[in-house]
Amino acid sequence: MASAPLKTLNDGTQIPVLGLGVFQMDNDEAHRATLSAFEAGYRHVDTAAIYRNEEGVGRAIAESGLARDEIFVTTKLWNKAQGRDNARVGISRSLEKLGLDRVDLYLIHWPCPNSGLYVETWEQLIDFRSEGLARSIGVSNFLPDHLDTILDETGITPSVNQIELHPTFQPDDLINHCSDLGIAITSWSPLGAAADLEHPDIQAIAKATGATAAQVIIRWHLQRGFVAIPKSTKPERIVANFGALDIELDADQMEAIDGASADNRLGPNPATMEV
Ligand code: A2P
Repeated sequence: MASAPLKTLNDGTQIPVLGLGVFQMDNDEAHRATLSAFEAGYRHVDTAAIYRNEEGVGRAIAESGLARDEIFVTTKLWNKAQGRDNARVGISRSLEKLGLDRVDLYLIHWPCPNSGLYVETWEQLIDFRSEGLARSIGVSNFLPDHLDTILDETGITPSVNQIELHPTFQPDDLINHCSDLGIAITSWSPLGAAADLEHPDIQAIAKATGATAAQVIIRWHLQRGFVAIPKSTKPERIVANFGALDIELDADQMEAIDGASADNRLGPNPATMEV
């Protein structure tokens, strides 16, 4: 069975470029979806403490029969758990729920600048990596000034910034800033929560290539160099989405999707998102 190509992060760790996202799934849905994904060939699953489904993901990992080092597991520290002591409790709880002694990637979920704790929290993640609780560490929803601040304060660059990114929302300044700093981007809501599937340019490319609209969008992320974590609760879609690895978009098709950008943010603005 084909597996997703690996992208080497700035700390040398390798991340499969296509993973399963499990946002808004309960434990049982996340359990089923993760098992379906492993069967389809996925080896990367992305959860978070706030999704409240780490236990379901952990059950799927335990039942999969896959060796631990074959699977890449990401989870995220929730906003209320920022700060030195709280963060340690946060990662311990996540590891316990997942049934793991380390995660592959641990992220600060949102900067929440109003609480003023993201630098202190980042220092704590640096310790977690040294202690082997996380192979790689990164952030999510960090804007350029948040990235610059943690870099200035600690000298340690995150390996990943996981951000909202889909054809109708392409934050170019942030993408370029991450690229300049050597930070890999993971796209959350890579399909625009399914709304971007209906975009006329995506539909036209799907028709021309015989691929599904979801495959076209996922392929666009991968060819742009982003890691994508589309989510689906439906086994047939989980399988079909993995088929994005087998198609190729030409330069004109890539350019058409690049041109679909429309400032269509779906989630909160990280500058104002509060704890
Ligand atoms: P479902 O779970 O019913 O499959 P995103 O990852 O951008 O947030 O998008 C997730 C949404 O897209 C979910 O509502 C999911 O619904 C839907 N989705 C995922 N894959 C596909 C697909 N191949 N075709 C249509 N909808 C999809």
